Amino acid sequence: MSLKHSYTLLAPIYDAMVAAGTMGIRKKSLEQLGTVSGKKILLAGVGTGLDFEHLPSGADYHGIDFTPAMLKRAAQRIKPDQSITLHQGDVTDLPFENEEFDIVICHLILAVVPTPEKLIMEVERVIKPGGEVLILDKFIRPGQLAPCRRLLNLFIRHIATRTNVVFEQVLSHAPKLKLVNDEPTMVGGWFRRIKLVKL
Ligand SMILES: C[S@@+](CC[C@H](N)C(=O)[O-])C[C@H]1O[C@@H](n2cnc3c(N)ncnc32)[C@H](O)[C@@H]1O
Repeated sequence: MSLKHSYTLLAPIYDAMVAAGTMGIRKKSLEQLGTVSGKKILLAGVGTGLDFEHLPSGADYHGIDFTPAMLKRAAQRIKPDQSITLHQGDVTDLPFENEEFDIVICHLILAVVPTPEKLIMEVERVIKPGGEVLILDKFIRPGQLAPCRRLLNLFIRHIATRTNVVFEQVLSHAPKLKLVNDEPTMVGGWFRRIKLVKL
């Protein structure tokens, strides 16, 4: 089964499975946005739009996802006073110009795609110099054995997410993106809130 098929099946139950457990960490991650007036902001792998309620107003938001069933739910979540444009497309081959965005939000997507290095390179490409990347996801540390997570990965990587992604390896593919903050959020630091800035 492909990830797109899997997320088509998961779409009706995604919010029930994920919303409550991630609400606090989403809010905290998006508090880092601060004042966004006039900014153009991309939500990569936007899903059902669980981030929308935490987005400060004033920015031109764009969300991209390759699963129509997830996008349909995201569309229903946009409030009348929010400027959010949804796109169907692949986050590892973004249909956007170089240096088009001020900020890119990657919540629960870097550890989902089979080629996170392509996604981080695309993020590096579409973001302006001085722009920020907000990441929220589960990663293992370089050299960490994490046998259970590596085993789990064999079973769920094609249907939901990967559990063996080493963030530092992924970031090494985007030399213009510099780490400015990296904090553990939940499950004993398996989930991390990370902020990058493009040089
Ligand atoms: C775990 S969900 C995260 C959704 C949302 N960001 C959140 O925080 O709830 C992963 C999403 O990424 C999408 N996705 C997976 N691979 C993708 C790809 N290559 N291009 C675009 N979307 C993708 C799935 O359709 C799904 O909606």
